[in-house]
Amino acid sequence: MFNFKHIVIIWTKCLIFFTQAKIIELPSYNVDRNAISMSGFSSGGFMTSQFHFSMSKIIMGSGIIAGGPYHCASSITLDPPNRYIHYMNQPDTMDVNLLINITKENEKQGLIDPLSYLADDKVYIIAGSQDTLIAPGTVEKTLQVYQNFTKAGNIKFEYVGSEHGFPTVNYGGECAQVNDVLMNSCNFSTAHKILNHIYGDLQSSGNSDGTLFKFNATKFSNGTEKSMHDLGLDDTAYVYVPSECENEYIVCRLHVVLHGCTQDASTIDDVFVSNAGYNEIGAANNIIMLYPQAKIMEDINPYGCWDWIGNTGPYYATNK
Ligand SMILES: *[C@@H]1O[C@H](CO)[C@@H](O)[C@H](O)[C@H]1NC(C)=O
Ligand SMILES: *[C@@H]1O[C@H](CO)[C@@H](O)[C@H](O)[C@H]1NC(C)=O
Ligand SMILES: *[C@@H]1O[C@H](CO)[C@@H](O)[C@H](O)[C@H]1NC(C)=O
Ligand SMILES: *[C@@H]1O[C@H](CO)[C@@H](O)[C@H](O)[C@H]1NC(C)=O
Ligand SMILES: *[C@@H]1O[C@H](CO)[C@@H](O)[C@H](O)[C@H]1NC(C)=O
Repeated sequence: MFNFKHIVIIWTKCLIFFTQAKIIELPSYNVDRNAISMSGFSSGGFMTSQFHFSMSKIIMGSGIIAGGPYHCASSITLDPPNRYIHYMNQPDTMDVNLLINITKENEKQGLIDPLSYLADDKVYIIAGSQDTLIAPGTVEKTLQVYQNFTKAGNIKFEYVGSEHGFPTVNYGGECAQVNDVLMNSCNFSTAHKILNHIYGDLQSSGNSDGTLFKFNATKFSNGTEKSMHDLGLDDTAYVYVPSECENEYIVCRLHVVLHGCTQDASTIDDVFVSNAGYNEIGAANNIIMLYPQAKIMEDINPYGCWDWIGNTGPYYATNK
């Protein structure tokens, strides 16, 4: 009997056979340390805002798609899974004043970088108007929290008519429906909008090309497989390197992209990293795209999410 499971297995094998990125020993690239930015979808969006607030000294711009505000899982005392649900689609329970107080208190205790570093950063926030998992109202709270720390002119907020999925120009399923890989064809260039807002006048396409590589990320996490496992991360990560950036004399920019839950490589191989639309823009504009990977692990990370809830310990939303 041929069933859905077989199709998935065969499809996955073909996909791996045809698209397997080469595994490299990651060299060092000539990156402008003042041009490092980040974006992410869903749990990757929550993590982007969390990372930006925690490490604002090194991040100069962020893009948040269907993600909630910094430290939002802390302002209510419920046990999982109720806690997640509250913060994903019950925005009325999210007290922005309390979140702002927590943020300022964390700054006072030195748990996050000085908030003044956020003032001049560029922020692009996108909410799916049809999103039934991360309510648009939750994403609006992300905007309100940023508005208290980042100059108004530097923040953009936009609705896209999508269900819960990463909006693309033309890759993925119907814009207003959910699909397995959570990528929605919405005639909406998320990657270009975010990167153009952060870096200025980008070329939407160019002649230059680049290569998608895989590398072993273990040595960037205390050097042990156990530390990767305990953080719910995959030991392999992807990097897309524009060909000019392989030349050590050319200065490139760096953008970190965080997938959403169940979009990790152990679940959908390189479907997200190859089709989200970032690589083409990176190639045309000398921006290296770094794709760290969470990983589905039954014990610690059952959906392959980024930790915006505190599963990995009390310092999850800090620079410690
Ligand atoms: C700041 O936070 C408050 C809630 O404390 C919110 O109502 C307001 O819209 C935010 N933005 C600005 C610019 O104050
Ligand atoms: C936030 O802090 C201000 C000033 O300390 C205080 O007046 C206010 O009650 C606090 N709000 C919440 C919701 O904790
Ligand atoms: C896609 O969006 C552009 C504007 O960004 C519009 O001009 C074009 O007609 C749209 N295409 C489709 C197929 O809706
Ligand atoms: C990554 O590196 C670690 C530490 O050297 C090693 O234990 C692990 O097997 C490597 N993983 C892969 C997929 O090569
Ligand atoms: C990393 O290593 C340091 C020093 O050995 C240790 O204190 C810390 O707990 C480790 N962190 C993780 C996430 O394993």
